[in-house]
Amino acid sequence: MVVMIPKVHKAVFPAAGLGTRFLPATKAMPKEMLPLVDKPLIQYGVEEAIHSGIQNIIIVTGRGKTAIEDHFDVSFELEQTLEAKGKKDLLAIVRNVSDMINVAYVRQKEALGLGHAVLRVKELVGNEPFAVVLSDDVIDSEIPAIRQLLDVYEFYGASVVALMEVPGDAISSYGAVDAEPVSHNSGKDRLFRIRNMVEKPKPSDAPSNLAIIGRYVLTPDVFASIEAIEPGSGGEIQLTDALKHLLKNRPIYGYRFEGTRYDAGDKLGFLKATVEFALRRYDLGGEFRAYLKQLKL
Ligand code: UTP
Repeated sequence: MVVMIPKVHKAVFPAAGLGTRFLPATKAMPKEMLPLVDKPLIQYGVEEAIHSGIQNIIIVTGRGKTAIEDHFDVSFELEQTLEAKGKKDLLAIVRNVSDMINVAYVRQKEALGLGHAVLRVKELVGNEPFAVVLSDDVIDSEIPAIRQLLDVYEFYGASVVALMEVPGDAISSYGAVDAEPVSHNSGKDRLFRIRNMVEKPKPSDAPSNLAIIGRYVLTPDVFASIEAIEPGSGGEIQLTDALKHLLKNRPIYGYRFEGTRYDAGDKLGFLKATVEFALRRYDLGGEFRAYLKQLKL
């Protein structure tokens, strides 16, 4: 009997967090709208989803997040002004993304955790697999990170999380996995079958230095697991705890993705990403490089 693996059509963007690491910038502005050079963080994630073959976007928002909705809307006055002034390049930039996606919004009334945010999309997602993108994890890679996870999902038909090795004590800021390597695409160092996971472990309790990064492809049975768990680390409903619950009945894979990840929700990570993205820009890179070189560091 051939078992059909259902396709992933929807990507969920939890964006209802408080962004406390980036205060005061995030007091009245969503963290997801902070620009790397000139593009908001969330747009990098949405473009990654599009390039991975997913056009249906669901954004979980909360209070003070209307700028995200405005960003992906048609900006009538702006478009008319640009058209009247003959600024075709800018018009294309403004129209580009909103033209490419179907976007829906769901509110998370209180920031009760990432798991709680994901549960808010249960009705909209229905009984289908879906991707989850945390847009403050910006991933620069040849093959979009979500596409890399989808390739594993489409082979095994099971949930897949993105993994990255982190140095030393840094693991205590992440979900850490206990996992065994699985042969995949003639290699044995990227794909893992997860045995267990722990959210924000003490370094001495961490099962490995493999951390879960903000990209997931999840099967819909994760919703029942989120409903079944109690608040965990930080008093929040954690997605990692739900996945640990799911693991009792279903296999979950981890994929050590190819690419560079920037933690743009953290000030230093954001600065690193800004510098590297600016250096790579054809219109800015040359002058910016010359400027950096003459700084007395
Ligand atoms: P973070 O752990 O980065 O939390 O959330 P945060 O609140 O956004 O930022 P800090 O740590 O206070 O600076 C990871 C992702 O989960 C979303 C966030 O928007 C971010 O994309 N999230 C988190 C929610 O949507 N709801 C929550 O209740 C918590």
